[in-house]
Amino acid sequence: MEKLVINGGNRLHGEVKISGAKNAAVAIIPAVILSDGVCRIENIPNIMDVILMAKILQEMGASVKVVDKSVIEIDPRGIRIPVATYELVRHMRASSYLMGALLGNFLRAEVALPGGCDFGVRPVDQHLKGFGILGAKHSVEGGMIKIKADKLVGGHIYLDVVSVGATVNIMLAAVKAEGRTTIENAAKEPHIVDLANFLNSMGADVRGAGTDVIKINGVKSLRGTTYSIIPDQIEAGTYMTAVASAGGDVTLKNVIPKHLESITAKLREMGVVIEEYDDSIRVVREDRLKRCNVKTMPHPGFPTDMQPQIAAILTIADGTSIVNEAVWDNRFRYVEELRRMGAAISVDGKLAVIEGVDQLEGAPVKATDLRAGAAMVVAALGAKGTTEIEDIQHIERGYEDVVGKLTAIGADIKKIETANDQTVQTAG
Ligand code: UD1
Repeated sequence: MEKLVINGGNRLHGEVKISGAKNAAVAIIPAVILSDGVCRIENIPNIMDVILMAKILQEMGASVKVVDKSVIEIDPRGIRIPVATYELVRHMRASSYLMGALLGNFLRAEVALPGGCDFGVRPVDQHLKGFGILGAKHSVEGGMIKIKADKLVGGHIYLDVVSVGATVNIMLAAVKAEGRTTIENAAKEPHIVDLANFLNSMGADVRGAGTDVIKINGVKSLRGTTYSIIPDQIEAGTYMTAVASAGGDVTLKNVIPKHLESITAKLREMGVVIEEYDDSIRVVREDRLKRCNVKTMPHPGFPTDMQPQIAAILTIADGTSIVNEAVWDNRFRYVEELRRMGAAISVDGKLAVIEGVDQLEGAPVKATDLRAGAAMVVAALGAKGTTEIEDIQHIERGYEDVVGKLTAIGADIKKIETANDQTVQTAG
């Protein structure tokens, strides 16, 4: 078992290079299934979710070549059977994207779905509604969702909720369907645009990604391509909150400042100074943070995947803040962990009321999920004393080399292996 040990209080200084976007990579890798040739994907983040997704394709028959830490080449032509068993997908929450990609390519998909995640049930009704309008039928047998169609024909799909996953899956299923598919009330996240750009680089005709109406004109085939993934909005946002927590002056390289606007706006409201450049931002925090209210919303609103991290810094802001989680039902499980560090937070349904305290104190805590784990790191960096974070496998699903990147800007953070009550330090 491994844990992170952080001695808080060091101000952060220097530069951090942000990796490629996790949520784009886990959509683009399955999208490779639709191509007739080798796809070279660059700026791939070296994180567990991406390694697992590539492994799933490999075990299904694709050939996967790791060119270097951030470049892979995938040849999907060895995939013959469109089935992803529970054994393959059980650790991978984004495995539902295999449904759209396999259906789009083979007119058939059998994918085991992992259950609900740590912050609520993850329904796929909108995904299935989309497949149905394109002409597919589905059934659930033995924990597998089985979907098939004689042919896929474009249609008009209105999403009842703005869903990233349903938008991705319908794009994947529709890209080689006959005729035009229109998705209304589509998600507008940067990774939706990145997926559309990737598909178009393979010869697809996807228009309007980034707006709430996406139009897809089906094409007969897609070719191999070379594509570079966008920088990770949430990793960048997490480092922005890390600087806000610990104080200091850090430049984040390899970012798209436009993707960070909602996060930048909130941090500025809290008194953090942010300078924007073409592909970098400078984050400076000197004085005590000010309170603010935050409501999560689909893009371009404040991202739910940044909610735990901003809550972590509101715990030490001057005054009372209200955080409204409007995307997920149960995304405040980490609050109990922050309370252990001295945070004053009360939760009522989708609202958290945070009374700012002067400083948090280090404590043993758990990463209850990926972004909750990030919030623990952020809180620990500004806290007095030592915080030990358990269950860090959640953090490693989505953050590349968090120890190396934070150490380089002056944090005191180590990964420790614990075995038989003996504590052994491993290289960061
Ligand atoms: C993606 C992100 C996740 C992020 C979320 C919201 C990836 C791999 N994951 O998850 O990190 O927190 O977007 O930004 O990109 N819903 C339905 N029916 C459906 C689908 C969704 O009711 O068929 C609801 C969900 O319960 C949730 C809301 O819609 O309340 C948003 O979910 P969705 O955008 O689909 O999230 P994911 O794609 O699973």
